[in-house]
This record gives sequence, C-alpha cells and structure tokens, in this order.
Amino acid sequence: MDFLEVPTIKKKQFVIGNFLTGESKHEIIADIYKGLTAKQKYISSRFFYDDNGSLLFEKITELPEYYPTRTEKSILKGIVSEIIGNSEQLNIIELGSGDCSKISILLDTVSKSKLNHIRYIPVDISEAAIMKSAGFLAVKYPGLKIHGLLADFMKHLTTLPGEGNRLICFFGSTLGNLTRRQATAFLLDIKTLMRPGDRFLLGLDMVKDIDIVEAAYNDKQGVTALFNKNILNVINEYAQTNFNPNDFKHIAFYNAEKARIEMHLMSTTDVVIRSADFPERVFLKKGETIHTENSHKFTDADIQNFATATGLKIENIYSDKNQWFSLVNFK
Ligand code: TRP
Repeated sequence: MDFLEVPTIKKKQFVIGNFLTGESKHEIIADIYKGLTAKQKYISSRFFYDDNGSLLFEKITELPEYYPTRTEKSILKGIVSEIIGNSEQLNIIELGSGDCSKISILLDTVSKSKLNHIRYIPVDISEAAIMKSAGFLAVKYPGLKIHGLLADFMKHLTTLPGEGNRLICFFGSTLGNLTRRQATAFLLDIKTLMRPGDRFLLGLDMVKDIDIVEAAYNDKQGVTALFNKNILNVINEYAQTNFNPNDFKHIAFYNAEKARIEMHLMSTTDVVIRSADFPERVFLKKGETIHTENSHKFTDADIQNFATATGLKIENIYSDKNQWFSLVNFK
C-alpha cells in the first residue's frame, strides 16, 4: 500500500495517513490467545502503547535510572549539523516517533528559512502520540511540513514517502525490542527501501555493566512496573479478558547469554482468564510468567555484523564517553 492512498486526517499544517484500519480484530485476538497458551506465555509488546502506556513510557524516559534516552539525546545534540547536512529538500522519517523530543533536538538547530524545505514524517502506532507531537511541532516550527503516518512500521512500510533526500531515524534502541533475526530482516527492508543519498540513523543501547542495565528496567518509583502491568489493561480492553494487574508482579532481568533484558509479568496466584473470543479458558499457575518484552543490548561487533548481513554502509558511529549508547549513521 502506498502512503498516499490511505485515508487521511487533514489539519492545518499536518496530515495523518492511517494504515491501521482494515486489520482483522479476529486475527489479533487469535494471536493473543496463541501467546497466552504457549509453553512460555507471552503477550506481544505492541500492546504496551495505548494512550496510558505511551504516557507511562514518556515517564520512563525521564527516570534517573533510565539512562538510554538521556544518553542518546546528548549524543544527538553533538552531531546535528553533520546529520542534517545541506540538502535542498529533506524528508525526516522517524519510525516509532513517540513524544517527538528527539526530533526537536534536530529541528532546534535548523534555521527558519530552511525549515520550509524539511518535511517531518512521524510513523507510529499511537494516533494520540502522532496528533500530540504533530500539533506541538506545527506550533514550535512554523513552516515545517508534517505528514504523520499511523502505521506499524514492521508491517506497513513498503514504500518510504518523500521526494528528495530522506533521513530515516530509528531511535531509542527500539531495534533491540525485536529478535535478532527480526532485527536483521527489518534492517534489510530498510536497506531495500533506501535510495542513493538517503541516510539511516539508528540508536542502539550497548552491552554494559549488568547492574546499570537492570536498574534501568527496575526503577525505584515503580513506573516500569506500571508500564509493564498496563499491557494487561490493554488486553482486557481489546479482548474483553478479566486480567487483574494486581495479581501480577513486574520482573525484569538481564539474560547474559542472549545479551538482553527480559520483562515478564509473574502471576502471584493461580488465575483463570476468560474471554468470549477465546476458544477455551487460560490458566496461569502461581509463579508462572508472561513474557512481555525483550530489550537486546549490542556490541560493536553486532553493528559490523548488521552492516555485513544487510549491505548497509556504516558512515559513522557516534557514542558517549562511557560507550553506553551508539548512534549509527548508515548510507
Ligand atoms: N526500546 C527501549 C528499550 O528497550 C524502550 C522500551 C521498550 C522500554 N519497551 C520497554 C523501556 C519497556 C522500558 C520498559 O529500552
């Protein structure tokens, strides 16, 4: 599907194209049931991001323990002019745009006259997130063209919008939330969609001291726990199930063999889950977990391997002084 063919919502300065309509609820609920009846139960992390989940995630990014956002932003600040360059017409495509604070770092340094030549294309599965960020950016940067895409970029990116050069941004180490195989497949898709002159800026959280990583996903205030449990509210809403988030405990630990944080919800009691749309009831034993998220951490060797496996060319790797986070500029 081309991005120009989808239904659009027009506001003054921005347009939102909706790719999400037409997805079968029936199939999605069947997928949820499949996850809840697997040997290791799981819920897809796509269900984190309802409006409340998006808000909770924004809070996570501001927590003292959660270093990735802060570190990535500090790196970004130092490389803006190099990244924006001086192309005549630039399309900035941000995959999983969230709260748009990172793109603001880029746009803050662009001169007013140049803003007219930039089109910002946030791609996200949360309409609330896109509306909010597009509205905010439209006011903050007059002249900036904005074309939001309500889409699951894992599934719906068969074309990348924009004539002229494109800068694709994939921040927040969101790549790390995919399996290694999915990550390589995704990068290969990006590479296939890119034209000469396009660039791809990828944020990756790096392997580091386990205590630092585990603290980032086990904050003292319990915001990550709330975020994790909120996925059950989303499932309740979507599939009319009877999860009680209070029956579950947030668990996040580093799996060293797989170099990733795993988030689970552990049942603190035996529970029975029902939905009119499930073929049968789902049973959870006390102590059983539902796997909700992986967050892989990367090494320099991983970055080189991605390049080799996909044919993307590394132009530059930017990092902070502790090497906690990297921004890779591919062409
Ligand atoms: N990609 C980020 C990370 O893995 C953000 C993220 C996704 C996240 N899911 C999360 C952060 C769950 C905390 C908890 O860190």
